[in-house]
Amino acid sequence: MSRIVYVNGRYVPYAKAAVHVEDRGFQFADAIYEVCQVRAGNLVDEERHMARLARSLGELKIPAPMSAAALAHVMRETIRRNRVKDGLVYLQVTRGEGPREFVFPGEDVPRTIVCIARAVSPAPHDATAAQGIAVKTMPDLRWRRSDIKTVMLLPACLAKEAARGDGAREAWLIDNEGFVTEGASSNAWIVSAEGTVITRQIAPAILAGVTRATLIDLLREEKVPYVERPFRIAEALQAREAFITSATNTVMPVVRIDGSPIGDGKPGPLTLELRSKFDHFAAISGA
Ligand code: PDD
Repeated sequence: MSRIVYVNGRYVPYAKAAVHVEDRGFQFADAIYEVCQVRAGNLVDEERHMARLARSLGELKIPAPMSAAALAHVMRETIRRNRVKDGLVYLQVTRGEGPREFVFPGEDVPRTIVCIARAVSPAPHDATAAQGIAVKTMPDLRWRRSDIKTVMLLPACLAKEAARGDGAREAWLIDNEGFVTEGASSNAWIVSAEGTVITRQIAPAILAGVTRATLIDLLREEKVPYVERPFRIAEALQAREAFITSATNTVMPVVRIDGSPIGDGKPGPLTLELRSKFDHFAAISGA
């Protein structure tokens, strides 16, 4: 079955999907995006993703190209046309195209909208989670508005490539004060020796992860103690467990940081329990 991509109001074959060479997303990274998990053909955590998308647009003063409901319809239709059961859907909105000028074009310039859906088999992810992943620390070279989900992802690419070179699946980014901000494409968490779950508080330095927010709801429900504050790698190395969260990984155990084992070097029991609780939530979310 050929893949179909949504581009500016049309559903076109993957090989024919294109945007203009002077699109501002291409020239300036003047664009925002969302990645949502798809489970049994449904969007997981749709409301939170659409709220964050609206916020990203607002922070960059990109006029909303259509209502959140219409954008969600595009995502659902792209999922349907590609017959994705389990996988991901990617939605990007750019400020549009025009001759290369730094200042914004008029609000009448149509925004570029692209939506891509991709099937991802859950089995390899579960196999990875059973082993846990390694992370590598890297300096956080990003701008000071990492709370906006822009496509300006070169620092994340560089960090992840360096991590891959060391056999690590994710990079943990370190700020100028030596604190972990977040993963290159995930939020970072540890579990203290006393069993308190720790993740950095929401601020311009990090992305407010949708998975993070839903996991905090689960922690509250389950009465698991948690605190939102920064932590250093020295503290993470003393932690009982560590993990990352993102739409693509859900809850993924971290078992090594820069080559040093966390806890006994195996995925932590609380992490695995949270992963399975999140999985249950995802299965019913949007169904
Ligand atoms: N990345 N922090 C950063 C820098 C991210 O890029 C992401 C997500 C997250 C986790 O957010 P969420 O739980 O809403 O996925 C945190 C996506 C998955 C990506 O770029 O592919």
